[in-house]
Amino acid sequence: MDLRPEDLAPRERYKLLIGCIVPRPIAFVSTIAPDGRLNLAPFSFFNGIGSDPMTVLFCPANNSEGGEKDTLRNCKPRSEGGTGEFVVNAAVENYAREVAACAEALPYGESEWDLVGLAVAPSARVRPPRVELSPWAFECETLQVVRTNPGHPAGGNVVIGRVVHIYLSDEIVDARMHVDADKLRAVGRMGGFGYATTRDRFDLPPNREALKRP
Ligand SMILES: Cc1cc2nc3c(=O)[nH]c(=O)nc-3n(C[C@H](O)[C@H](O)[C@H](O)COP(=O)(O)O)c2cc1C
Repeated sequence: MDLRPEDLAPRERYKLLIGCIVPRPIAFVSTIAPDGRLNLAPFSFFNGIGSDPMTVLFCPANNSEGGEKDTLRNCKPRSEGGTGEFVVNAAVENYAREVAACAEALPYGESEWDLVGLAVAPSARVRPPRVELSPWAFECETLQVVRTNPGHPAGGNVVIGRVVHIYLSDEIVDARMHVDADKLRAVGRMGGFGYATTRDRFDLPPNREALKRP
């Protein structure tokens, strides 16, 4: 079939986005409100952007009233009323349930950290703490927020952050910065309530070499 997005309801477009774009990495994002209260939430519209400077993005959509989710309120630039900082933690098998539980929409200022009981560890360069158990954490300063439909439910927001400090567990990485996927045990998000592990993997050589079957 062929579809025009304008013939679909936003809910249907959402289902196609999350069902077709799979598996998605999950950013487990820690932020702090201007008054110091902590927040923690998962976002699977997440990726790296570039490595010089080291930049990442994640996308907290507007809530059902068209307002900003707590994470966006907290991490938007200071000039827009936020604190301009966030920490991306890993989403891994060890605490996948806690990651999912942190999607609960708590009133602004009520902390998901208390809901799930994960321990905090202080960050090195930014105020929001990292998840102590997380095998890696990227401490970020918000460069910019791009809004695709401000004030409207289901409108998107791209938060672009510069990584200013990297935490890595010595367990998962070697001296050449190769991360061991078996030790990391990352989880990804599928459509609906689905998640994926990263245990069923395969290698391919680069470029046209990849076409050769053994
Ligand atoms: C695995 C997972 C991934 C999610 N990804 C996103 C996402 O990319 N964008 C989004 O707006 N909400 C996403 N959500 C929902 C948010 O986590 C949820 O709305 C949460 O309440 C936002 O928290 P906050 O209001 O404290 O920022 C996701 C939920 C789960 C469980």
